[in-house]
Amino acid sequence: MADRATRRMTAVPVAGAQWPSLLCATSMLTAFTCLGLLLIQAAQIHRLREELWGLKLRVGAFCGEETDAARCGVPTLYSRVGTLGQDDGRMRRELPRKGTRRLRQTGQRRRTFLHLQPLSSQSYDEEDKTVLKWTVGQSQGEGLNVSGEAVIVTTGGLYFIYSQVLYEDSTYVMGHVIRKRIDGNEVRLMKCMKSMPDNITYALNTCYTAGIQYLEAGSVLELSIPRKNAGLDLQPHSTFMGIYKL
Ligand SMILES: *[C@@H]1O[C@H](CO)[C@@H](O)[C@H](O)[C@H]1NC(C)=O
Ligand SMILES: *[C@@H]1O[C@H](CO)[C@@H](O)[C@H](O)[C@H]1NC(C)=O
Repeated sequence: MADRATRRMTAVPVAGAQWPSLLCATSMLTAFTCLGLLLIQAAQIHRLREELWGLKLRVGAFCGEETDAARCGVPTLYSRVGTLGQDDGRMRRELPRKGTRRLRQTGQRRRTFLHLQPLSSQSYDEEDKTVLKWTVGQSQGEGLNVSGEAVIVTTGGLYFIYSQVLYEDSTYVMGHVIRKRIDGNEVRLMKCMKSMPDNITYALNTCYTAGIQYLEAGSVLELSIPRKNAGLDLQPHSTFMGIYKL
């Protein structure tokens, strides 16, 4: 019986719980006195346990009925989940406004874009260049138009421009340039170059380039290859160009 009481005592950490065992260890008192002290302590621990149990029951009943979980001292995560959808402004402010953000992206601001597919190529022998003519693959919004070789920008702004051309040409280097024409001036916006194998069997390379540019209203873009009669693959998945407004 003394054994059981000791085990209980060590299981519940109560301040000063160690003193009877210490006294017994000194062997200054008789075994009878030790047993008596241990029994008294076991009774005290039992009473404390009962009090704690009663307290738990009362707290449980209170929190079960109350909707405000925060008042019961429940951790923050539970409090947030618990108050979702209820009329609690403080909690709502902390939650991310997913719905609002999605509306801003899709509803109020539809991105303007053009994805172009090759229609044909035109060689200008005197100028030693080949220019691509385009047709619209995908498009959305207004402010961008395509007309033959030219992409016309009717709304000024920052644009992301991308392009890829597949070359089947054994000329030592192949590539393309995207030029912008505005008010009679011409600017090179981006350029892509590839070294080519001299055996036509292996002379196959794609060249891709992309970047962000400011395009004024009235800008005209053109993609050209600085070679006459350039060997190109004009399938829409091999050669394409696109532009979208940022
Ligand atoms: C450009 O395209 C829009 C429709 O996307 C059309 O209404 C407009 O007339 C076109 N402008 C030109 C100059 O082709
Ligand atoms: C190109 O490569 C093929 C295959 O290896 C070969 O048969 C052919 O002779 C080569 N052509 C030239 C011009 O080197």
